[in-house]
This record gives sequence, structure tokens and C-alpha cells, in this order.
Amino acid sequence: MAQDKKDFIDLNQFSKEELLSLLESCHDRKNSKKRNGHATVDDDQVGSGKILATIFEKPSTRTRFSFEVAMLQLGGKTINVSMNDMQLGRGETVQDTAKVLSRYVDLAMLRTFKHSTILDFAMNSTIPVINGLSNQSHPCQVLTDLMTVEEKLNSLDSKIFTWFGPANNMLNSWIHASDVLNFELRICAPEEYQVDDEIIKGSKSNIIKINDVNEASKNSNCIITDTWFSMGEDHEPDKEKILEPYRVDKSKIEKADKDVIFLHCLPAHRGQEVEDDVIDGPRSVVWDEAENRVHAQKAIIDWCLS
Ligand code: CP
Ligand code: NVA
Repeated sequence: MAQDKKDFIDLNQFSKEELLSLLESCHDRKNSKKRNGHATVDDDQVGSGKILATIFEKPSTRTRFSFEVAMLQLGGKTINVSMNDMQLGRGETVQDTAKVLSRYVDLAMLRTFKHSTILDFAMNSTIPVINGLSNQSHPCQVLTDLMTVEEKLNSLDSKIFTWFGPANNMLNSWIHASDVLNFELRICAPEEYQVDDEIIKGSKSNIIKINDVNEASKNSNCIITDTWFSMGEDHEPDKEKILEPYRVDKSKIEKADKDVIFLHCLPAHRGQEVEDDVIDGPRSVVWDEAENRVHAQKAIIDWCLS
């Protein structure tokens, strides 16, 4: 990685102070938008004259649109490409692609299968690189989620978070956030789909593995779930059966704190990992969470360019 550039790869690259400051910047972006009514631009125009490349190896709705809208509102432009439409799809190396794109654009966001593709791109480019989701992590989404929790519950201090469902890229980023910010994270999953001990071996005791679905959400301030089948994973009927008890339904919400909020990064598979009456219910904040992607992307872009 070039020393004079800032890559946004994972939340555990930050200290607690740095992460809280990035969160403050997310709120500032949203608040200044509110003050300006529905103005289409941010006052400081930190993206002015800059171009962001967004490169996708997997589908996306929120990440794609929110980065594009964020960059437009910051005064910059985005070039959006699917990896298959690039020579990458025909075997040109990530390393060579990174060197060439560094001559064209000012920063790049990648959504890939292998996490190592993003790391290779970052190592071989002279521009900031943003992880827009890999099989290993989804830091842009969890930064947004932390912002949403602060917005709804005022602060992250002493909050208890409960994850329902199989371990995946989203959970890994939640583990990173818990490591940095020290909040209690309960991971409620069946043994077969629990997080690997290897992943949490360096974590502090604030990460708790639990498989009792009746206990996991007790007193919880935030309940989180995600798809049971991430992009690229085979739909195994056995897995679906094993996960049935981990579906977020009203009974899990009722056991939690009375002000609990429900988060889902979306897309949701209604009736699978979550019931309609939860995602559409009074404790769900998923639409604000989705909106906040735009504000958080701006904070990330600003951080990368500063
Ligand atoms: N939550 C999220 O990253 O959504 P997309 O896959 O639509 O980008
Ligand atoms: N875990 C999901 C997140 C989608 C935003 C996936 O990787 O498909």
C-alpha cells in the first residue's frame, strides 16, 4: 500500500477514537443535509473534481446507488463497472488493473468474492481503496449500522447487541466493531453455523456465543440478522431447516429491551431470516438504516480523500 493513501478495508484497522470520529462525521453529513433541506449538494464539495470507480463482482442495489449518490452530492463523479465487463473478467491481473486505474481515477470501491482481491488491489494502487463487501467482511454497512444505533439510541455505550443467524461477512464486521468499541455482542447460531473460534480468538470476553434462541435477545438493545445464504453460496435445504428456530420473530423482539431496534442490511428474505411483522413492525429501523448508507459513504469518501 502506498504510504500516503488511506484504504478503508476493515473496521478493526481503526482505534476506538478514530472510529468514533468517523461516526461523528457520518452524523455531521446527515445533519448538514437536514439543515440544507433537500439541497442536492454538500457545502464543502470534498469530491469536487474527483472520480470514484466502483467495481462489482457481485450484485448490489444499496452499495451501488448510495456510493453514486454520495459522490454526486460531494461534487464528484462515479464510474460504475461490473468486473465481467472489464478485462479482469478475461484474466488481466488485479495488480495490473490497480496500476492502470490509479492513473485514471482518484479512489476505488470494490465488491468481490475473495477478500484478497481487495487487498491485492489496495497493495498495487496509489489511490485509496474501499471494501464494498467481500466474502469476509462488509465494513461500510456496519459503520452505517453503528451510526443508525447512535441515531436511534443516542449512544453505543453499554448497549447489548444480538446477532441471529449463521456466521458470515456481516457478522465478521460486527465482531470487528465490538473489538474496537467494546460492546457486548451475542452471537446466536446453531453449532454448525457458529463463528469459528479462530475468528474470535483475539477478541475480548464481550463476544458471547449462544445457541439458546430464548435467551439470546433478553435485555438486548439491538437485534440484527442477515440472509441465511450470502451471495455466491449454494441454497442448501438442510441449512434452512437447521436455521428455522433462529428466524427473527416477534417473540425474540418481545424478550428484548422495550426500546430495542431491529437492523437488517437488506436485501431481506421475508419469512426466512425475518418475519414480516418484525421488519415492518415498530422496532424496525431498516429504512433509515438503508438511507444512512449515503451519509456514511460520504464520511468514508471524505476520510479516504483527506
Ligand atoms: N446492504 C447492502 O450492501 O446491499 P446491496 O447488496 O444492495 O448493496
Ligand atoms: N451477507 C450478505 C450481505 C448482503 C449485503 C451477502 O454477502 O450476500
